[in-house]
Amino acid sequence: MDLPLFDALDIVLVGGLPASGKSHFSATYFSTKDRRRINRKELRRLLWEMGHFGKAWREEYFNEHDEVLVGHVERKIFEHYLQSRLAVLVDNTSVTVDSREYYVTTARQLRKTIGIVFLNSPLQRCLERNRGREDSLSEGIITNLYASLELPTKAEGFKEVLILADY
Ligand SMILES: Nc1ncnc2c1ncn2[C@@H]1O[C@H](COP(=O)(O)OP(=O)(O)OP(=O)(O)O)[C@@H](O)[C@H]1O
Ligand SMILES: [Mg+2]
Repeated sequence: MDLPLFDALDIVLVGGLPASGKSHFSATYFSTKDRRRINRKELRRLLWEMGHFGKAWREEYFNEHDEVLVGHVERKIFEHYLQSRLAVLVDNTSVTVDSREYYVTTARQLRKTIGIVFLNSPLQRCLERNRGREDSLSEGIITNLYASLELPTKAEGFKEVLILADY
């Protein structure tokens, strides 16, 4: 797949349900480019394990209070990269307008260009891929996110929007 329009952007979001293939897609199409990746799931795990003396992360440890810190750290890294004139790829689910608003607003404030590739993979495929993973999530998390999903549009402030129905 050729993604030249996205290569020219300062910020690329790769969104989609858990197990839709975002990290796979990002590594396949963007890892050879000079673009820094941010991933909330990995930050969540790292911060939790750091704060708990190396004890391994599990999904049931998720807690909204810790999530506030994850958000602060994520935003610091995002803004640091942009202020350092580095291109960024955000590999988070980004399934709702609300969850995308911070990136679009920050892009506008810092005069950066932003686009989104959204992997609109069928729910059943995400559930199947999730079952095949070592660190699979409970299916309720994925079906709840599916119920809240709002496909991205340029009206939100994106310069480019690409929705892939069948990744
Ligand atoms: N196009 C593809 N073809 C075959 N397998 C794929 C493809 N995309 C993803 N997979 C596999 O599906 C699983 C989920 O993919 P991946 O980890 O990239 O999802 P994700 O959207 O990043 O999920 P999460 O939000 O939980 O991080 C992985 O095991 C991955 O190797
Ligand atoms: Mg991932």
